[in-house]
Amino acid sequence: MILLSVSEPNATPTLISAPIPTPSDTQIQVRIAATALNFADLLLIQGRYQDTPDFPLVPGLEISGTVTAVGRKVTTHRIGDRIAAITGHGGLAEYAVLDARRAIPLPDAVDFHTSAAFQITYATAHLALVRRARLAAGEVVVILGAAGGAGLAAIEVAKAAGAKVIAVARGADRLKVATRAGADISIDSAATGFADLLHSHAPFDIVYDAVGGDAGTTAARRLRPEGRHLLIGFASGDHPTLKPNHLLVKNIDVIGFNISAYPGLNPTAMTDSLTTLLRWLEQDKIRPHIGHTFRLQDANQALDLLKSRKATGKIIVTP
Ligand SMILES: NC(=O)c1ccc[n+]([C@@H]2O[C@H](COP(=O)([O-])OP(=O)(O)OC[C@H]3O[C@@H](n4cnc5c(N)ncnc54)[C@H](OP(=O)(O)O)[C@@H]3O)[C@@H](O)[C@H]2O)c1
Repeated sequence: MILLSVSEPNATPTLISAPIPTPSDTQIQVRIAATALNFADLLLIQGRYQDTPDFPLVPGLEISGTVTAVGRKVTTHRIGDRIAAITGHGGLAEYAVLDARRAIPLPDAVDFHTSAAFQITYATAHLALVRRARLAAGEVVVILGAAGGAGLAAIEVAKAAGAKVIAVARGADRLKVATRAGADISIDSAATGFADLLHSHAPFDIVYDAVGGDAGTTAARRLRPEGRHLLIGFASGDHPTLKPNHLLVKNIDVIGFNISAYPGLNPTAMTDSLTTLLRWLEQDKIRPHIGHTFRLQDANQALDLLKSRKATGKIIVTP
C-alpha cells in the first residue's frame, strides 16, 4: 500500500510503499476512504504535537472507511462495516489498523467524507462547550479562529445549543464562511480597532479560544463574572495573557481541553459525544464544511494549503 511517511521532525513528508498492516487480536484493519486534516498534523510533522508517536510517522488523525479484517477477539465489528475513527495518526495511507473500540459504526445516510471530517472538530466543540464549559441556551460565545475547522464546528455546536455566537476571523471571505455557518455577528481580527469592535458586543459568557495570543487576551478581557475561557489551541503561536487578579475578582474559569486525551480519559464521554453528533448530522443540525479535497498522491499540496491559512473548513485526502 501507499502511505505518506515523515522520517524525522520537520522532514518533508514522502510517499512510500509499505506492506498492508495486519490487525492484532483487539484491532480492526480498515481500507481508508477519507482522511481529514487538522492543524495538529502540522505539529505532528514538526514533532511538536503533545501526542507525537515515534518517527518515522504517518500523519492523519481521523479517518473513515470499510473494515477489511478483524482481530480474533473483536466482536463489535465485521468485515464490510462502514466506520469512522479518531486514530491519532496513520490516516494518510491506504489502510490502517486500530483498536476496535475507537471505531464508530456509520449510519447509511452519512457519507465517508463527512464522517471523516466531523469527528475531531465537532467532538472538540461539543465536549468543550457543553461538557466542560456548561454552555447554556442564551449565552454569548466568542469563537476565535472561527473560519478554521475547529471554529466552524464550534459555531454550529454553539448555535445548536441555543447560544448567541460572535465569530472572529481574518478577512471578508473568511467572515462570510463564518456567517454562513450560523454566526450572529462576525468580526475581522485584522480590522483597525479590532478590540473596540469586539468589546462593543461584550460582555461574553464563553471565549472558545483556538488562536491564543493577542486575540485571546483581547476577548478574555471582557468575560462577564462567572465567564469561562476555553483553551482550545494556540494557532497564533502564542498563549493568551490571562491575568490571575481578573480571574479571581470576576470568578472566571480557565478551562483546558484536549480531545486526544478523551479515548483514554473517558472513552464513554467521547463515544456518547460522537453518537450525539452523528444523530445531529442525520438530522441536518450540523453540516461539516469541507472546503477542499485532494488525492493521497497530492497530500503535500493539502498540507501546504493547511499551512497557508487559506483553507476554509476541512481538507479531505482520499487514497
Ligand atoms: N484542544 C483540542 O482538543 C483541539 C482540537 C482541535 C483543534 N485544536 C487546535 O485549535 C487550533 C485550530 O485548529 P483548526 O484545525 O481549526 O486549524 P485551522 O483550520 O488551520 O484554523 C486555524 C485558525 O487559526 C487562525 N490563526 C490565527 N493566527 C494564526 C497563525 N499565526 N497561524 C495559523 N492560523 C492562525 C486562522 O484564522 P484567521 O486567519 O482567520 O485568523 C485559522 O482559521 C489549533 O491550534 C489546533 O491545534 C485543538
